[in-house]
Amino acid sequence: TILTLDFGSQYTHLITRRLRELNILSEMLPCTTKIADLDYKPKGVILSGGPYSVYEDGAPHVDPAVFELDGMQEIAWRASPENVIAGVHREYGHSNLKALKGDDAHVDRLFDGLEDSMRVWMSHGDKLGALPEGFHTVAVSDNSEYAAIAHKTKPIYGLQFHPEVTHSQNGTQLLKNFAVGICECAQNWTMARFLDQEIARIRDLVGPEGQVLGAVSGGVDSTVAAKLMKEAIGDRFWAVLVNNGVMRLDECEQVERDLKQHLGINLTVIDASKDFLEGLKGLHDPEQKRKFIGGKFIDSGKGTKIGFFLQGTLYPDVIESLSFKGPSATIKTHHNVGGLPERMTNGQGLQLIEPLRSLYKDEVRELGRTLGIHEELVMRHPFPGPGIAVRILGEVTEEKVRIARQADHIFISEIRKAGLYDQISQAYAAVDPSRAVGVMGDKRVYGYIIILRAVTTTDFMTAEAFNFPWEFLQRVMNRIVNEVNGVCRVTYDITSKPPGTIELE
Ligand code: XMP
Repeated sequence: TILTLDFGSQYTHLITRRLRELNILSEMLPCTTKIADLDYKPKGVILSGGPYSVYEDGAPHVDPAVFELDGMQEIAWRASPENVIAGVHREYGHSNLKALKGDDAHVDRLFDGLEDSMRVWMSHGDKLGALPEGFHTVAVSDNSEYAAIAHKTKPIYGLQFHPEVTHSQNGTQLLKNFAVGICECAQNWTMARFLDQEIARIRDLVGPEGQVLGAVSGGVDSTVAAKLMKEAIGDRFWAVLVNNGVMRLDECEQVERDLKQHLGINLTVIDASKDFLEGLKGLHDPEQKRKFIGGKFIDSGKGTKIGFFLQGTLYPDVIESLSFKGPSATIKTHHNVGGLPERMTNGQGLQLIEPLRSLYKDEVRELGRTLGIHEELVMRHPFPGPGIAVRILGEVTEEKVRIARQADHIFISEIRKAGLYDQISQAYAAVDPSRAVGVMGDKRVYGYIIILRAVTTTDFMTAEAFNFPWEFLQRVMNRIVNEVNGVCRVTYDITSKPPGTIELE
């Protein structure tokens, strides 16, 4: 196992993910984990970056035992306080890395098969001001004289850049060199193995009589989780679809067809759309909207006699929402994690089951295929729990929901027609409620602004706007202003993540 210790970087879990893509067993734990508490000895340890300056009061520090681990092959090194200074400029984005090979065999193994020069992704404010004792520089970049350092004799390395993000050219190869080449990990972790283990774990947890309730949305995560439960405990699994009034056009009917007919799952549909829309009135703040939807959602499941509650929580959700307990900075409270499990478990005595908790999105898709779910469903773009409520900036009203739905439907159908759906990771149309002036048929109009968003990403942690042909955008714009009443402008959001997020709220 390679153990990654998380200091709260938004990218930490990508390290684990890359290693799993290489079929290497890997685990991520908080940076304060004591090595003595582990029931295994990791072959390698990676320390992530994080939002704290190491010299700040209250900044988390690693168990010193990490550096003493017998046989440990690499540590992405955190310098001692006096070696770290605040950078004059934050360094953020692409940088050219030059590896200084040839001095040390163990350093050459880290850069094995890589060009001397490569583009890497930087994201830091502080930097090293001096080399710690026993270390030397093994790579430099445009702005960092210590872009990578290594201990002269021990297998300890420190990287200023992020090999785990896809923007770092050959970053995965570098992690492989570390995990396989240096730490000698086997590449034998597979999805079929995960499935068997998870089914056994669920049966054990639920027992022979236990019943499980699971909310489904039609998204990949809840669908795969539901199918997994069906495989594990058959009809003792009950799926519920809550129509919260902020689902996409015709979504409810489609989900019902998919789950009942295609997957043979016990499904009940609860229409709570009126209640939801009523409660959303007057809420402008994104976090308030998210919390309301999460809370309301729980209330709609009240009174059940079932002992377990299924959540399709994924690894990135866990990391992004951990902030109130660990060092990660809160970005936004995701509906399927923020507050929901606690209220479900404490408030209603339900025990939580999260079979996808350790998986990334494309691992979930692979699990879906392994479970026999059809390709179109497996490849659906993700849709957030709070639905189009987070795609309507500010207050949600029935009119804005109608506009968002219609515009979104046009955008997605055009994307499908153009054969672009599978090239895009997520796309939607959002409503900007500040209105703009336009002219239609010689008349002045004053209407909402539609924001189209389409991104490509492999992990939903970093993303780029999709590069549409101009004619495509024009066609979508034309259809939206002509077919959706109340809209007079269409814009395309080209912001990457970071600094933007994928959803607008
Ligand atoms: P952001 O906006 O954080 O989105 O860049 C990353 C991914 O997460 C989805 N998302 C959510 N999914 N409940 C969900 O189930 C939520 O509250 C939520 N917020 C964002 C988003 O659609 C994207 O795929």
